[in-house]
Amino acid sequence: MRLIANYRTVGLFLFLSILTFELFSQPRTETNFNDDWYFILDSTSNYSSNKVDYSKWRKLNIPHDWSIEGSFDRANPSGSGGGYLPGGVGWYKKSFDLDYDSTKLVSISFGGVYERSEVWINGHYLGLRPNGFIRFSYDLTKFLNKDGKGNVLTVKADNSLQPNTRFYTGSGINRPVSLIQVEKLRIGDLFIFSDQVDKELATIQLQIPVVNSTDSIQSVQVITEVINPQGIVVSDCKTAGEVVINLNSTRLLTFSVNIPNPELWSPEKPNLYRVKNTILIGGEEIDAVETVTGLRYFRFDAKSGFWLNDENMKIRGVCMHSDQGALGTAFSKEATLRQLNMLKAMGVNAIRNSHNPVGREFLDLCDSIGFIVVNETFDVWKNKKNRYDYHMYWDQWFERDLAAQIVNDRNHPSVIMWCLGNEVQEQWHNMDLGKSIPKHLVKIVDSLDGTRPTTIANNEISMKNPVLMTEVIDIIGYNYNHEKWENVPENHPDKPFIVTESVSALETRGQYDLLPADSIRQWPERWDIKFTGGNADQSISAYDHVRTPWGSTHERSLYLSETIPWVSGMFVWTGFDYLGEPTPYTWPSRSSYFGIIDLAGFPKDVYYLYQSEWTDTPVLHLLPHWNWSKGDTVDVVAYYNNADKVELFLNGQSYGVRSKSDSSLHTRWLVPYEPGEIKAVSSRGETIVKETSVRTAGKAHILHLFSEQSSISGKEGLAFIQVKLCDAEGNLVPTTMDMVEFHVEGDGELVATDNGSPVDVRGFSSSTRNLLNGKALAIVRSNASRGSVRVYARVKGIAEAKTEIVIGTNINTSN
Ligand code: GAL
Repeated sequence: MRLIANYRTVGLFLFLSILTFELFSQPRTETNFNDDWYFILDSTSNYSSNKVDYSKWRKLNIPHDWSIEGSFDRANPSGSGGGYLPGGVGWYKKSFDLDYDSTKLVSISFGGVYERSEVWINGHYLGLRPNGFIRFSYDLTKFLNKDGKGNVLTVKADNSLQPNTRFYTGSGINRPVSLIQVEKLRIGDLFIFSDQVDKELATIQLQIPVVNSTDSIQSVQVITEVINPQGIVVSDCKTAGEVVINLNSTRLLTFSVNIPNPELWSPEKPNLYRVKNTILIGGEEIDAVETVTGLRYFRFDAKSGFWLNDENMKIRGVCMHSDQGALGTAFSKEATLRQLNMLKAMGVNAIRNSHNPVGREFLDLCDSIGFIVVNETFDVWKNKKNRYDYHMYWDQWFERDLAAQIVNDRNHPSVIMWCLGNEVQEQWHNMDLGKSIPKHLVKIVDSLDGTRPTTIANNEISMKNPVLMTEVIDIIGYNYNHEKWENVPENHPDKPFIVTESVSALETRGQYDLLPADSIRQWPERWDIKFTGGNADQSISAYDHVRTPWGSTHERSLYLSETIPWVSGMFVWTGFDYLGEPTPYTWPSRSSYFGIIDLAGFPKDVYYLYQSEWTDTPVLHLLPHWNWSKGDTVDVVAYYNNADKVELFLNGQSYGVRSKSDSSLHTRWLVPYEPGEIKAVSSRGETIVKETSVRTAGKAHILHLFSEQSSISGKEGLAFIQVKLCDAEGNLVPTTMDMVEFHVEGDGELVATDNGSPVDVRGFSSSTRNLLNGKALAIVRSNASRGSVRVYARVKGIAEAKTEIVIGTNINTSN
């Protein structure tokens, strides 16, 4: 085993965004290549040549996901895993002129194309990339038109072989694309890390490949400058004199830079430094790359779990798929930020990108907002889970795909671990591969990054599992099996332990079945038996009392993770609901019930359970709503913190004072229903901490629109508008499913509507949407850089509601 305790890492990433290149004058440029593409969905023709009749093509900007535009249909071969949305074959074309400079190299870089992309420039075939989640690039230099005019880039994305995953992936160029121009003498894929960081001193190690593809020997000087979070250069170094780089070769230069009193990176204080590396010839700048880094050190301990910057810390994580609900997988910074900010406020400090590589934009946000990332690569190895999944490409591609992910992501301070597989079939079948594949993968990791540990997410935890028992894997990773976490040290005495996946409880937001809330339902009864039970409307009660047989309630795993010292932490399945995998139901359910937050971004009640345990934000959350029938006996549950007890009142009458017990993280009362108000009062000693009440809602009277953004930053910016149907006193009408009609005026358009219901098979682009238990969401996009968008919503019999969002005010979207 490698010495995990010695991991003292400094991450640094190639900061190749447009912003970077504005900071520098030429010569390296990276241009956003996202606008003005043409698109057609057509599996019958070949459009690889430059001559195409565009009359049937649509103009659009990428990132783009064509599956999300389609209809939910149980006949779609993606099936329940893919959310019953369509796949197909899509073609994209973009024409461009370029100020051509024959001394430079021009390349095109894709953040990811789902899936089996093929790319042509001016009719010349550049290549195939089956993996839909991986960054890749092609050198265009030789094939560009010499006058720089009328170049055409063509991309084919083939997502026609279905199912090819167990979850929704979207289709098309769903991550950003950029065009890079750089000198033939340049900085390659640099790597920056540190084997020495502590509170007094950080020593950054830089490995800078200088690539010379000119046809002569070059003598260069390389300068490194480190800029602190306040923008001040705090350290620099340079090569002593000039360094010779032979023609057509790469020379790796290494530097060490000391940073006294470093401002360390952590989820609470995500301090970021910048490192600028410059190549000069005779004092003239030839290439420069600026990279963002965070200085931190960490270790995993078999007895005491995870330590960051010498502080013992629980990893409080969630698993996340890549879709953004109604927006599909087309990457949107605003939508991602919305998700991450909600998770941050809940107390989450870590994300596991299940089960595939993510784009650099996602990791940039994790760096700057402060999330630890367990960076996962594969859901399948050589043995399949689905007919057309990655096993088809394994032999030819796994080395290249894993290597690409490591090189792309190894400089991000947020990334602390490589997770090399999820519940792979080799745990049970083909035991030889179960032994040999992990070794092979770790070898690749070690050759590119010796600073981070590896893990694998296992759901088979017996010692017979060759994957789990592979010596070279640094950290034992369990999915589920919560009642066995106690025993890990017996079976793996020297290895640290992390719960790569936990919980898989099920809820529909705002839905409550009046069983006693402490009677746990197991849906389905067994994973291998068809589920025939459930509610007629395919809803699931939100009392945290419905779980899968492999999972647990939220409360149970949360309690165990927090109290067992060797559990480094856990990743709850999942932070948000996602498209596909509507366990335990099938059609018409088309999205998951696992999320702590629903697909539209409305928190379920368990959100406040975590917030009460993971943050100091004062929480006193009461459930359920208070619109029941006479004769009902209602379970009332409170999640709270910062207090030692809660008293519950119904219409002023006390139902008693209760406290959380050691292993129970809520309090509960059985209350005979009568309309009015339930009120909870939490207190510490004699001091009242918080009061919360829920009132019986009367008739629907008013529709409230609330834009989560007071302004949109510019063209193509998004605003998320919440809709709530309330009575005359402003109480949410908690069971209404009324239909809302939306329309938008001004400088924007309605992109999607949603309500968080896993059963709603109306397409997301629809301007009408039923409320789910009183709430719905509209997503609006600006189409001008200044102006305003007006959003109107109407429910039959209720006055139309309106909200206006200004476009063009600078909003800080970074945090
Ligand atoms: C896990 C799996 C996840 C998801 C989850 C649902 O076993 O790793 O991808 O399927 O179950 O509970």
